[in-house]
Amino acid sequence: MPKGTKVKSKASHSSEKVVLTVVGARPQFIKACALSKALVGSGIPEMIVHTGQHYDLNMSDVFFQKLDLPTPAYHLGVGSGTHGKQTAAMIDRLERVMMDEKPALVLVYGDTNSTLSGALAAIKLHIPVAHVEAGLRSFNRSMPEEVNRVLTDHISSLLFAPTKAAVQNLASEGIVRGAHLVGDVMYDTAISFRRTSQHLAFAILNNFSVSPKAFVYLTIHRAENTDNPERWRCLLDAIGRVSREVAPVIWPVHPRTRVLLQGIDMDGVVLTDPLPYFESQALAMNARVVLTDSGGLQKEAAFYGTPCVTLRDETEWVELVCCGVNRIAGADPDRIVDLAKGAHWPESGIPADLYGTGHASELVAGHIQSYLMHAGTEEAPKPPE
Ligand code: UD1
Repeated sequence: MPKGTKVKSKASHSSEKVVLTVVGARPQFIKACALSKALVGSGIPEMIVHTGQHYDLNMSDVFFQKLDLPTPAYHLGVGSGTHGKQTAAMIDRLERVMMDEKPALVLVYGDTNSTLSGALAAIKLHIPVAHVEAGLRSFNRSMPEEVNRVLTDHISSLLFAPTKAAVQNLASEGIVRGAHLVGDVMYDTAISFRRTSQHLAFAILNNFSVSPKAFVYLTIHRAENTDNPERWRCLLDAIGRVSREVAPVIWPVHPRTRVLLQGIDMDGVVLTDPLPYFESQALAMNARVVLTDSGGLQKEAAFYGTPCVTLRDETEWVELVCCGVNRIAGADPDRIVDLAKGAHWPESGIPADLYGTGHASELVAGHIQSYLMHAGTEEAPKPPE
């Protein structure tokens, strides 16, 4: 995908109310996949802006190609940097795009620096913000994601919550107006591509020389794990033991962790580049257990009936812990190994509609349509003062 400020000429929606969607990081491409289609289905013109937070071929372009996402109208090419530098560059470039394009609404996803930048740039221009995946809380403000999601929720006019717990979190912070329980858009994407992922599974497992339910699928990328040497050492110790005592481990390595693994002997662990969407789903479906610090993968494991051990001290997806399909292990090697060994999918499973019915995107599109119809009238919630 070409980098730079502008990919296409100014969109020709001058008389229409355009939704400007900000994406930048891998999980946002997966979420936008379902909702972009629903917006088209509802006749809502959308313009996608890619901040460039993720820029590697296998962290970005491959998702646009394989998930059939519309080409962004703008690619801002921001790239990596400290939080301040990255966020500031995004706000600066997004502000210019929003001033040029004058969207009726800015749509942001999740909890990354791209999310907060999109929301801040919009609210300062008095453009209302819609937040998909609103209301999630880890109650741990040392996580950059927690800061991003709390701030974004408090400046959004439309808040699309994936779970009842998320709605309650919003209510307890005084946010009720504009909040809607819609279900999870990642679940929509997983359902619509389930067959494709299943068809690819045989070849993918073959490629890694593993059999169904006889391997562990591992991902780690959170700064709280990678940037703390003591925690990182404990995690490597645990992973080595899991590969020896439980099953071979397949580990697609996020760029953040690549450099930390150089020169380290990880016998019994298959290290690979970040995987495209279908490949990752196929592994999540067929693993004996998923070990991860990713929010998205905790849910994806549950979509497919695979138990999960979370390599964090808390999770936003508390329902999965309550159902016993996800266990919180932190970075304690003994606990990680024990939970990986004992991981099983309980008979009670998870409630069928825990993350909605696979139509969250349509619900979001419907709310956006009605909001745009009433924008500028008494009925439309105004951006927070
Ligand atoms: C970001 C999000 C995190 C999300 C994750 C999904 C924030 C604060 N964090 O974390 O919430 O779960 O995306 O993957 O927004 N890098 C590359 N190539 C890339 C992208 C990143 O080499 O295409 C490297 C860079 O060295 C960079 C580091 O990875 O410094 C971290 O990238 P960054 O975008 O800052 O955060 P993530 O760890 O990816």
